[in-house]
Amino acid sequence: MSQAHQTGLTQREDEPASAELTDRETGGTVDLPVLEGTMGPAVIDIRSLYAGTGKFSYDPGYTSTGSCKSNITYIDGEQGVLLHRGYPIDELAAYSDFLEVAYLLLHGELPNAGEKNGFVDTITHHTMVHEQINYLYRGFRRDSHPMAVMIGVVGALAAFYHDTTDIEDPKQRMIASHRLIAKMPTFAAMAYKYNIGQPFVYPRNDLTYAENFLHMMFAVPCEDYQINPIHARAMDRILILHADHEQNASTSTVRLAGSSGANPYACIAAGIATLWGPAHGGANEAVLQMLEEIGTVDQIPAFIARAKDKDDSFRLMGFGHRVYKNYDPRATVLRETCHEVLDDLGISDELLRIAMELERIALEDEYFVERKLYPNVDFYSGLILQALGIPTRIFTVIFALARTVGWVAQWNEMIGDPEQKIGRPRQLYTGPAQRPFLPLRERP
Ligand code: SDX
Repeated sequence: MSQAHQTGLTQREDEPASAELTDRETGGTVDLPVLEGTMGPAVIDIRSLYAGTGKFSYDPGYTSTGSCKSNITYIDGEQGVLLHRGYPIDELAAYSDFLEVAYLLLHGELPNAGEKNGFVDTITHHTMVHEQINYLYRGFRRDSHPMAVMIGVVGALAAFYHDTTDIEDPKQRMIASHRLIAKMPTFAAMAYKYNIGQPFVYPRNDLTYAENFLHMMFAVPCEDYQINPIHARAMDRILILHADHEQNASTSTVRLAGSSGANPYACIAAGIATLWGPAHGGANEAVLQMLEEIGTVDQIPAFIARAKDKDDSFRLMGFGHRVYKNYDPRATVLRETCHEVLDDLGISDELLRIAMELERIALEDEYFVERKLYPNVDFYSGLILQALGIPTRIFTVIFALARTVGWVAQWNEMIGDPEQKIGRPRQLYTGPAQRPFLPLRERP
């Protein structure tokens, strides 16, 4: 009998596990099934809770709530484990590449040589965007934040693709998925080029996914652009490390939007909007801004004090995580990549020195140790992206580019789930009780 079932949960050999809930107000009890997955905590199925007790569960922020079943990503926050379809993230980062991981997330298995070549060919030949989309960018101010542009442009794809929006057809779902994975680097690079006033650069079919993105970002018509293989490998690894992450805020947004049957491109645009927040994907940009604000190593104690001050809204960006109460395994890989890239490029970066000293101090400080606030995926990614010459405003755009693979994989899984229904949470109402309308002349 599994551990989950021994923790105060009843299970008679001949019956499935269950949890018995006693409502002390009414003395009534309700038997709730316990469902166990492949690994990790079992779940108490509370779908009959309201019918059985007349009461809702209450879990703002969903700290203890499983929203779905999924076969895609497993996280163990205590052990600092992240698996994609069972494969550890550090092994995927070391031995795979982003499109291979994309195939794995979408289809559940690593591709063989033929499958990989076919997938790479499909994605490569979908990287161009409809020429009309170029005009969409011109509707934005040049200084618009690139994430605002991405939300608008990706959402606009809903207006471009009518022919494959039958989301009940798995083939059409996969076409939409391929288009999104293929076009996100093109959109991202176009957002950057538009921001700096340079001409858009078309994708090239002879380059890898990461090489193509760097090419579209930094090539100019006036001269050939040489791909730096160290940059390309580092970019590919960053994309792998940001590809998917269980039911995080932006993925949950995509699932909720998709549960109504909404257009997939519009759902991904909603995911981009959610990721933009500084508490989520916007943290990598905020980490760089924080390091620049700290300025020098001797200023770190003052910022540590601010992070601990409840009256100060300042938080150490890049630290802490809702799930990881140990080191974020992606931060471990990114830390190594950060040193590799900076050493290879001969960059002795003051910001890296501040970051390393900040990490050292934070990991010794009782406040952070007690709250298990370790560096997360965003802490090092910004430093690497800066070393690759990526402007800070594009950091979260790259996070969205990578996470699109996770979003479309989770969206496909949800739409294909026979148990799937529209997401519709309830609430604890704390507003006024019913009262009669007050005519204007009688109001104080
Ligand atoms: C991502 O969900 C995912 O998987 C997300 C992500 C993904 O791949 O999709 O991993 C990507 O979003 C990583 C997180 C990036 N965000 C940041 O780096 C922003 C800084 N971090 C915090 O905002 C915070 O840690 C969160 C939002 C990440 C997690 O917040 P929780 O789980 O809601 O925790 P909390 O806010 O309740 O904090 C617990 C305590 C509080 O103190 P007490 O009230 O207990 O005294 O820790 C404190 C917080 O004040 N705290 C921090 C802190 N993070 C939490 N104090 C200072 N600095 C911080 N960074």
